[in-house]
Amino acid sequence: MAQAEIGLIGLGTMGSNLALNIAEKGHRIAVFNRTVSRVDAFKADAGQLADRIVPCHSMEELAAAIRPPRPIILMVVAGKPVDEQIAALRAVLSANDIIIDAGNADFNDTRRRFAELEGSGLTFIGMGVSGGEEGARHGPSIMVGGTEQSWKRVESVLTAISAKYEGEDCAAWLGTDGAGHFVKTIHNGIEYADMQMIAEIYGVLRDGLGMKAKEIAPVFAKWNKGRLNSYLIEITAEVLAVDDPKTRKPIVDVILDRAGQKGTGKWSAIEAQKLGIPATAIEAAVAARVISSLKGEREAAEKAYGKARKVKLDTSQAALLKDLELALFAGKIAAYAQGFAVMDAASRTFGWNLPLPTISKIWRAGGIIRSQFLGQIADSFAGDKVDNLLMAPAFIEMMKKSHPSLRRIVAFCAEAGLPAPALSSALAYFDGYRQARGTSNLIQAQRDFFGAHGFERIGEQGAFHGPWGGEG
Ligand SMILES: NC(=O)c1ccc[n+]([C@@H]2O[C@H](COP(=O)([O-])OP(=O)(O)OC[C@H]3O[C@@H](n4cnc5c(N)ncnc54)[C@H](OP(=O)(O)O)[C@@H]3O)[C@@H](O)[C@H]2O)c1
Repeated sequence: MAQAEIGLIGLGTMGSNLALNIAEKGHRIAVFNRTVSRVDAFKADAGQLADRIVPCHSMEELAAAIRPPRPIILMVVAGKPVDEQIAALRAVLSANDIIIDAGNADFNDTRRRFAELEGSGLTFIGMGVSGGEEGARHGPSIMVGGTEQSWKRVESVLTAISAKYEGEDCAAWLGTDGAGHFVKTIHNGIEYADMQMIAEIYGVLRDGLGMKAKEIAPVFAKWNKGRLNSYLIEITAEVLAVDDPKTRKPIVDVILDRAGQKGTGKWSAIEAQKLGIPATAIEAAVAARVISSLKGEREAAEKAYGKARKVKLDTSQAALLKDLELALFAGKIAAYAQGFAVMDAASRTFGWNLPLPTISKIWRAGGIIRSQFLGQIADSFAGDKVDNLLMAPAFIEMMKKSHPSLRRIVAFCAEAGLPAPALSSALAYFDGYRQARGTSNLIQAQRDFFGAHGFERIGEQGAFHGPWGGEG
């Protein structure tokens, strides 16, 4: 039997779909899974693609089934399992083989694994994959970190299986070692912010305007035809329109309001803090999921403080709907500006030279935050260098049109007692960013007063101390 061109370990949701995608693109693929019974079951279910699937029942069999130099994709639970699989692979692989970790790894782990494999003769790639089950099967967005030479060796298969946006591959090499996993982490952080802001707007429609799920669905469907056009808005409209077969109520009304959070959202916030870059909308989205998980405490607090109050609208419902659309758009711009600023800082810190226009391009299809909006971001970063997306000329125009609406919606939420943590953080970030004379002069004075930290004076060089306690 001919040897396979590539191998894959981990036939869970993502791995099995990715393997089928690879086989469909004409590649022979050898597969292995910790629970070995899944291997034969996978081949048996592969239908017409079964001929291209080589089932392996041990690591040794897997290594023997692939033509050297062997590229092997790991699609297992992130963390310790990845280290265990790498250790097991080292025993059966030989020089120039490539281990590709395609799970949602913490990029710090990816950097460590690169360091650990250095000198082993093996090559390592850290690869972010976005798009969930459907993306893995039919075309995900693929973010690759590693040496450029290692990318060249797997480029053709990875671009073949990736999503396409108007014919362009949504897969790219982004930089060395942890670059791919870092970019995927920030992608997910932005995804958290995007989803949270959509949920906050849904909250205004449901609790502020008293609209039912079936009435809200067409609002999102209409927005999906305009500036907010994106996969997340599209599925929001779809989800809101679906009934629960058991109760015949809208399914969203029977789903518990408690969302979990896995690694990547939290990691985005942590890495942003470490790099000293504000990513407040992303942090707010992570915190909102944590608050959502405190269901019992929230119920007790509502009893203690009372519900959000009804606010009389001083505009028409149509005007409020327009404001909501623009508020969501302005919030989204600020959240994406934060995510890209974090990547820009990481790029400098880790020497990656991250190509921001390419990153926005490969996110346009396949991944969860896919949208045409990302094309506008790509265009802006491809133009004259800007420090922040908020300073790109096209975005200045968009933000000028939309931030007054964000302001009105955040004010409406504050007045009514409706939580809007991501939208209000986005607004505060924008207002802080565009204020030439801020208030940290006072903070500098306070710090000098209690800790003799010194301060700078306007228009003068050097460090100064204040005349505190009567001293000059
Ligand atoms: N689901 C998504 O939408 C999505 C999107 C992007 C990225 N990811 C990432 O992709 C990776 C896989 O996710 P998934 O959703 O496919 O997970 P999954 O369906 O739960 O599958 C997990 C896979 O990992 C294997 N595994 C678990 N612990 C292991 C261990 N200690 N040693 C060896 N193998 C082990 C499992 O093998 P057994 O069959 O033996 O249990 C299974 O093949 C994760 O890093 C995830 O974060 C997921």
